[in-house]
Amino acid sequence: MLIPANIESELRRQAASGSTLNCYLYDTTPMREKIEHLVQIMPNGLELFYAVKANPHPAFLKAALQAGAVGIEIASLGEARRAVDAGFSADRLIYTGPGKSPEELAWSVENGVRTVHIESLVEAHRLNSICKQQGKSMDVLLRINANFDIHDAQTTFSGGSKKFGIDEEKLDEALPQILALEHLNFRGLHVYAASGVLNVGDLLKNCELVFDLAKKIEATYAGVNCDIIDFGGGFGVDYLETGSDFDPQAYADGLAAMIADYGFEGRRFVLELGRYLAADSGYFCTEILDIKESRGKKQVVCAGGINHFRRPAALSINHPLSIVHTSKEKLYDGQESVINEKVYFGGPLCTSADKLANDIYVEAADVGDIAVFGLAGAYGLTMSNQEFLSHARPEEVVLDQKESDS
Ligand SMILES: Cc1ncc(COP(=O)(O)O)c(C=O)c1O
Repeated sequence: MLIPANIESELRRQAASGSTLNCYLYDTTPMREKIEHLVQIMPNGLELFYAVKANPHPAFLKAALQAGAVGIEIASLGEARRAVDAGFSADRLIYTGPGKSPEELAWSVENGVRTVHIESLVEAHRLNSICKQQGKSMDVLLRINANFDIHDAQTTFSGGSKKFGIDEEKLDEALPQILALEHLNFRGLHVYAASGVLNVGDLLKNCELVFDLAKKIEATYAGVNCDIIDFGGGFGVDYLETGSDFDPQAYADGLAAMIADYGFEGRRFVLELGRYLAADSGYFCTEILDIKESRGKKQVVCAGGINHFRRPAALSINHPLSIVHTSKEKLYDGQESVINEKVYFGGPLCTSADKLANDIYVEAADVGDIAVFGLAGAYGLTMSNQEFLSHARPEEVVLDQKESDS
């Protein structure tokens, strides 16, 4: 992995300060470029939302706002507040996810979020009674747990038994009840198959499935229209650096052709992307505090572990890694180094689960050098176990060029 010059020079500046280095470095330029590109190439009617769960740092929200995202996909009141603080009005928020609390639904109704995506009949009835109490109504999409999954995706959100949405087979039982709730305006469907998908064809298959469902619903229920169709997130990132990047142009072309085939022009289509937009805008950078040989394997111990960067351990994958050398003096003769070998990286936590990389090839590394993990802008600090062992929170440093321009 090549480290961009601005990231490396900030690292060297911090390393020279003498304190133990352990931080996230962000430059949202790639995210801004991706949003601008997607806005340009996607078919008419497609609305791009940023899934803020990927990285809720204000710099990422600001990048989404400035680069032209239509809005933010939220899954909690905390995310809603962050989005509003960053400049997105409530009517630019779409609210997804299971287990929305009554307080969260009440806030959504009171503030007028754009759509609430219903995950169950309980949620539909709860939202309806909150709307009734407030004398308001709410536009809703129905999330379906489609009978379809993408086997090689990193995480699946539909197919099999899931807490997400209403099973496709139960649609005819659930939909009439939802349509009868007088404070809910049914606007369409949300079907999100999987996250981390690199194969465009797999995601387009999901689009086709939702289109078929929409057609079936409209043929079965007179006067009911699926004006809005939400495909969720899922554009993948090539963490393993295999050269198989997701091809957004192929997705845009395939979707445009499908919209024409189905005669679905004039409808609104939603993408809620997290990983694809944010991943390459962040690096987790952590100082190597120890290197030891243990029963034939080298263990490299860093200042931060899964408390600050849990994703590799959670998904059992290695992120791209580069070492920034600092040429620190050895503490004693015979101190271990890494030279052209496969080694293990972990943090300072008292659990063997504290792994940053497994069996990863490293050309050279010494105590005092900095391990830089790439593609860490999405699901980095936000999905880590920060409280475990009470280490200080890593600093998040923003190096945006455009940040200072605006
Ligand atoms: C409802 C919903 N939308 C969007 C996303 C973002 O997915 P991704 O980061 O794969 O684009 C997620 C991720 O979990 C999600 O649950």
